[in-house]
Amino acid sequence: MSKKIIVLPGDGIGPEIMKSAVKVLETVADKYGHTFEFDNHEIGGAAYDKHGEPLTDETVNACVQADAILLGAIGGPAYDELPTHLRPEQGLLKIRKALNLYANIRPIKGFAPLLHASPLKESVIDGSDIYVVRELTGGLYFGTPRERRDDGNTVVDTLLYHRHEIERIVEKGFESAQLRNKHLTSVDKANVLESSRLWREIVEEKKRDYPDVTIEHMLVDSAAMKLITNPTHFDVIVTENLFGDILSDEGSVLTGSIGMLPSASLSDEIGLYEPIHGSAPDIAGKGIANPLGMILSAAMMLRYSLNMNDEAEVIEKAVEQSLEAGYYTADLSIENGTQVGTEEMTDIVISHIN
Ligand code: IPM
Ligand code: MG
Repeated sequence: MSKKIIVLPGDGIGPEIMKSAVKVLETVADKYGHTFEFDNHEIGGAAYDKHGEPLTDETVNACVQADAILLGAIGGPAYDELPTHLRPEQGLLKIRKALNLYANIRPIKGFAPLLHASPLKESVIDGSDIYVVRELTGGLYFGTPRERRDDGNTVVDTLLYHRHEIERIVEKGFESAQLRNKHLTSVDKANVLESSRLWREIVEEKKRDYPDVTIEHMLVDSAAMKLITNPTHFDVIVTENLFGDILSDEGSVLTGSIGMLPSASLSDEIGLYEPIHGSAPDIAGKGIANPLGMILSAAMMLRYSLNMNDEAEVIEKAVEQSLEAGYYTADLSIENGTQVGTEEMTDIVISHIN
């Protein structure tokens, strides 16, 4: 099969880990007889440097025409003083909104060789396997007015949701639970927020359509605690934008390193795939970044957007085998293992694909 993939390396360690993902995808293409056409564009600070804005309309248009999109990471201290609308994060928010990528899927599943790498007790995290379904195009990130400072000391950010935005993500949550262990936790703050009360009502309405799924409501503060005290309690979590952002970073602690976690951001037409970690400017250019979150994001792309399940599994298996062989990057540790850099780690994964 021939597929067109837009590549947005971004900033910091983004270009390094993207190189790894592309190399892995080229290996898979060779093995299975596919052709992947990679089309590079800038996003974030890199786009600001080149075009004076964090994401051009031309890049958005290229994305619309593609089969899938890969994104590295955005942001860095060089851009901290820019006015809000030029900051790298605006590029990410713009692409999410422009492509209607409303469903952000963040699987949180640790690999056995990394169990001990988490600061949490092995007995607590062993067996945890969580699938976070985060709403991505609404809530505090997109309400208006937003990011407003009126007289210097009065600020406004608006948490806005329309019924249809909640309905479609709640449906994704139920559908995901049906494909897994049929347990859905809907996370909200219904004791305080009206948006959460509507969210709860909609979950209650929708549950009639999914009688095989057990549903529970959980307040976000309580969910934050339970996520690290009893993570095996969870199967699928569905939640709004900001809660999902926070809980998925917290959940990454279960896996030993945030550098391990991939994500998919899906509309009904297209998907964008990126690791959940940031651009790590402190280690950028040193060749030590963990490429596995990016590589696993490429695997998710094969599965969700390109319908290449076997190919996705081969990559995931290769990552697992590389860790089992004792290889790890600087953000991790494996007892009696070997620490390697980004390129070496990538080649080790590739050696398990061939
Ligand atoms: C994420 C990031 C982004 C978010 C930032 C960089 C805007 O933290 O993808 O989780 O908050 O959504
Ligand atoms: Mg985040």
